[in-house]
Amino acid sequence: MMWNNNLSYSLFAAFVLLINLKQALVHEVYEWKACCFASSCLCKNISVSEQLIADCSGKHLLRIPRLQNNIQELSLRNNNISTIQDGIFVGNSLLTTLDLSFNRISQIRTNSFKGLTNLLSLNLSNNDLKYENRSFEYSAFYFVENLKNLNLKRNANTSFLPDLWKLRSLESLSIDYVSDSISIFNEKFANLKNLTSVDLSGFTGNCKMTILTEKTFLFLSQITHLNLSKCKIQHIFKGTFTLLTNLLELDVSLNTCLRFETLESITTDLQHSAIKNLKVNYIHGIFGMPTILKTSHIWNLKNTSLVRFEAAGNLIQRIEYGALKYLPKSLESADMRDNVFSIGKYMPDLRSLPITSLDISNIRSSHNVLTSYIEHCDSPNDTVIIDSENNWLFQQLQYLEMWKSLKYGFPVPRGLKTVSLRSSNLKYEIPNFIFIKNQLEIISVSDNVLHTWTGPITNVKSLKFLDLSSNFCSNVSKKFFSPDFVNLRYLLLQNNLLGLILPTDVGGEIFQNLRDVVYINLSKNRITNIPNLLFQKQLNLERLDLSENMIEEINFKLSHIKKLTSLNLRNNRISTLSQYAMNELDSIAKINKNLTIDLAENNLVCNCDSQTFVEWIIYTPTILHHREEYECKTSQNTISLLRNPSEVYETIQKECMSYEGLIIGLTTGILIFIFILCGGIVYRYRWKLRYLYYMVKVKWHDPESKSVNKDERLYMYDAFVSYANEDHTFVHNTLLHKLEKNGGVQLCLHRRNFLPGNDIATNITSAIHNSRKTIVIMSSNYLASYWCMFEYNMSKMESIYERNCENILFLVFYEQNFC
Ligand SMILES: *[C@@H]1O[C@H](CO)[C@@H](O)[C@H](O)[C@H]1NC(C)=O
Ligand SMILES: *[C@@H]1O[C@H](CO)[C@@H](O)[C@H](O)[C@H]1NC(C)=O
Ligand SMILES: *[C@@H]1O[C@H](CO)[C@@H](O)[C@H](O)[C@H]1NC(C)=O
Ligand SMILES: *[C@@H]1O[C@H](CO)[C@@H](O)[C@H](O)[C@H]1NC(C)=O
Ligand SMILES: *[C@@H]1O[C@H](CO)[C@@H](O)[C@H](O)[C@H]1NC(C)=O
Ligand SMILES: *[C@@H]1O[C@H](CO)[C@@H](O)[C@H](O)[C@H]1NC(C)=O
Ligand SMILES: *[C@@H]1O[C@H](CO)[C@@H](O)[C@H](O)[C@H]1NC(C)=O
Ligand SMILES: *[C@@H]1O[C@H](CO)[C@@H](O)[C@H](O)[C@H]1NC(C)=O
Ligand SMILES: *[C@@H]1O[C@H](CO)[C@@H](O)[C@H](O)[C@H]1NC(C)=O
Ligand SMILES: *[C@@H]1O[C@H](CO)[C@@H](O)[C@H](O)[C@H]1NC(C)=O
Ligand SMILES: *[C@@H]1O[C@H](CO)[C@@H](O)[C@H](O)[C@H]1NC(C)=O
Ligand SMILES: *[C@@H]1O[C@H](CO)[C@@H](O)[C@H](O)[C@H]1NC(C)=O
Repeated sequence: MMWNNNLSYSLFAAFVLLINLKQALVHEVYEWKACCFASSCLCKNISVSEQLIADCSGKHLLRIPRLQNNIQELSLRNNNISTIQDGIFVGNSLLTTLDLSFNRISQIRTNSFKGLTNLLSLNLSNNDLKYENRSFEYSAFYFVENLKNLNLKRNANTSFLPDLWKLRSLESLSIDYVSDSISIFNEKFANLKNLTSVDLSGFTGNCKMTILTEKTFLFLSQITHLNLSKCKIQHIFKGTFTLLTNLLELDVSLNTCLRFETLESITTDLQHSAIKNLKVNYIHGIFGMPTILKTSHIWNLKNTSLVRFEAAGNLIQRIEYGALKYLPKSLESADMRDNVFSIGKYMPDLRSLPITSLDISNIRSSHNVLTSYIEHCDSPNDTVIIDSENNWLFQQLQYLEMWKSLKYGFPVPRGLKTVSLRSSNLKYEIPNFIFIKNQLEIISVSDNVLHTWTGPITNVKSLKFLDLSSNFCSNVSKKFFSPDFVNLRYLLLQNNLLGLILPTDVGGEIFQNLRDVVYINLSKNRITNIPNLLFQKQLNLERLDLSENMIEEINFKLSHIKKLTSLNLRNNRISTLSQYAMNELDSIAKINKNLTIDLAENNLVCNCDSQTFVEWIIYTPTILHHREEYECKTSQNTISLLRNPSEVYETIQKECMSYEGLIIGLTTGILIFIFILCGGIVYRYRWKLRYLYYMVKVKWHDPESKSVNKDERLYMYDAFVSYANEDHTFVHNTLLHKLEKNGGVQLCLHRRNFLPGNDIATNITSAIHNSRKTIVIMSSNYLASYWCMFEYNMSKMESIYERNCENILFLVFYEQNFC
């Protein structure tokens, strides 16, 4: 039978939706309340009917309380109930589900369940029922004749089975089975016409079956589901399942003493059955030799309508050439995890596999499931001769050669849509890889060591989902994602080392062909920087995860990704967003109200530098996921939460203002200080400065004097007479007469020799400079006169700076007691 996958899926989805809807309704209107019959129990109304669900699990009850009669479902799970009082359920004819698991019940009496005429489901697992005739009184299940599901698991380790043959409505039975004898399902089980499901699994109960023969299930020919997983089976003889022609599902997983070769007996028995789901996971011991899936193992399945086949953990290394042809056309999925496959001649056979989903993860990894489960087997170990083809180490040497020799492309089952090669310890560079024409939609090769992705990978036009996570990849070539990745929508790259290569992709070439992608996960890649154009072509991107990297700044182009709804930047090293980043985000958020970004666990700072960022947090239309968790470091090095950003913003604002004040104060202070300093210096050297100034001026007007050597200089005057105007009579009448007329000394007097037109100061400086000496006529008037003091100081400067400290000043005290 071919299932219409899509249809059944959508029907199922609609069903789930309905159930959820119903539950939502129930949940909305009816709530758990304390029950009337026992306040420690919780009760809830079921829809509009009067009936109740009661939950008394884990309440340390020692006895079953007397119940009200409108209870429909009751859980007494995980209490300390040791006996079921006779007739306690009389009046509870509405009860359909009763869970008594995890108690200490040791006996079921005839009247234990009296009154439960409509009970459909009874759970007695994990009790103290020893499965002896003392545990179950004759007709123990007399009153529960409508029971459909019974669970008696984890009670007994004996080969006794209680009388269940009265339970004619029974559909599903879960029971312990501990027996070394051939069969404990006696002829009475043949009366249970409606029994379809038998669960003996040792995962949830006690199971020890040892040997299965055609007698074991002789009276169970009606069943459709049989679970024999973890049942310590040592042998399954041919014929065991032959009578079970209605079987849809058979699970013999985790019976490691069986050895993989037993598969042949099983499939032979099932060749005429209705089998749809066959599980033979871990039926080969961990210490066994590698196995080969042979034609004889599976060729009997050819005429069945098998849909799913599981053979994980069987050390399968090769598949016999031609064997795969015998798998039925109905097969849809295969689980071949945890085997040791290597490349072989069978590879081209893969093409004819009818499956759509294949899981070959965990190749050559250690057996995860079995490490804690080791069985002791009766049979001696098999001896398997290892030829060169059997030796996968030898094969691996030829691995890449083989790869290259597949000229027409890598063989892929024609209809395969999903393939998983996770955790397979593949340590290769991904070379140029051409798939043969295929319908692949989902590829997962995560958790390997595919360290360099060179590519290009071609012929993957249907591919929608690619998982390359956890591969220690540090090198992706720009042609790896070929233009054939037209339909790729989900790209999982987390947990690699792409931080070593992505920052160099300045031109945005690595992802340039992925135009349809809606999801990229680059979490945990040690990325420090995303180049501006990396995502330039991802116009349809909706979710981008960059969490757990070392990104310090967001400076890549984003604004073109209008559909972006989630940008995860959690756990990076971002201290603040640049104006560019804020603009980019806002330009999306204006159009797309769903844009959410996560900045938790970064080194955010809230100080004057990030003032605009904090302001942005308040006003941006971007949704900040988990904003209340954001921590930011303030300028005092304390951590503040951004739960209320407006508050934080105000604090910053105040702080920054006082900061500004401080800066202004400081600068003005410094300026004033410099000013005062300069002033002081100018004042201290005021005469020198003036002197120099005028000297320059003088020399400018009178360039000849420059060239003249100081010592041999010819002076225009012998002496410049500096005097106060009040004393001019003395100078003009007495001094001039005495010195110039009689002494022949050429004097310079300001009234007589100063050049009109020049300003006084220049005249004075020039006169002093051009006179050999300066005669000061000192008097009280002199001291009071500004210009006299100017002349005095200027001549002092002249003596110091021009005449090598030669004394040129002659002081003539005109008045005796002027001081
Ligand atoms: C169930 O509904 C009845 C009325 O229909 C109400 O009296 C009763 O309290 C409800 N019980 C619970 C547990 O909600
Ligand atoms: C049941 O009773 C025993 C002692 O009688 C006690 O140790 C145990 O904790 C009880 N268990 C529960 C689930 O009440
Ligand atoms: C019975 O109880 C066990 C343990 O609580 C649980 O795992 C199992 O699903 C239940 N079975 C049925 C048929 O209710
Ligand atoms: C219990 O079983 C033993 C043997 O298995 C039998 O001798 C005995 O009569 C049985 N007791 C009852 C009450 O059925
Ligand atoms: C049955 O045997 C298993 C292991 O042999 C043991 O763990 C379990 O406790 C036993 N159960 C009973 C009820 O004796
Ligand atoms: C067995 O199942 C069928 C169909 O589900 C039903 O009509 C019939 O009543 C059931 N038999 C018993 C004894 O419950
Ligand atoms: C058999 O039982 C085990 C343990 O409950 C479960 O994991 C497994 O899925 C079951 N097999 C089938 C085919 O349902
Ligand atoms: C499958 O059925 C065909 C025709 O009915 C028959 O010839 C063939 O032998 C069968 N194969 C097996 C393995 O039973
Ligand atoms: C079977 O193999 C195991 C592990 O290799 C070994 O310890 C054991 O002795 C072998 N048994 C026989 C009978 O060869
Ligand atoms: C990346 O791989 C290519 C092709 O193998 C190689 O040429 C290149 O040097 C590698 N780059 C780095 C940084 O390792
Ligand atoms: C991305 O990968 C990380 C690591 O496996 C995972 O925790 C995270 O949930 C992923 N992101 C999304 C958006 O699924
Ligand atoms: C935002 O999200 C809602 C619900 O997930 C969706 O219905 C709506 O179309 C989205 N809006 C945009 C602009 O993507």
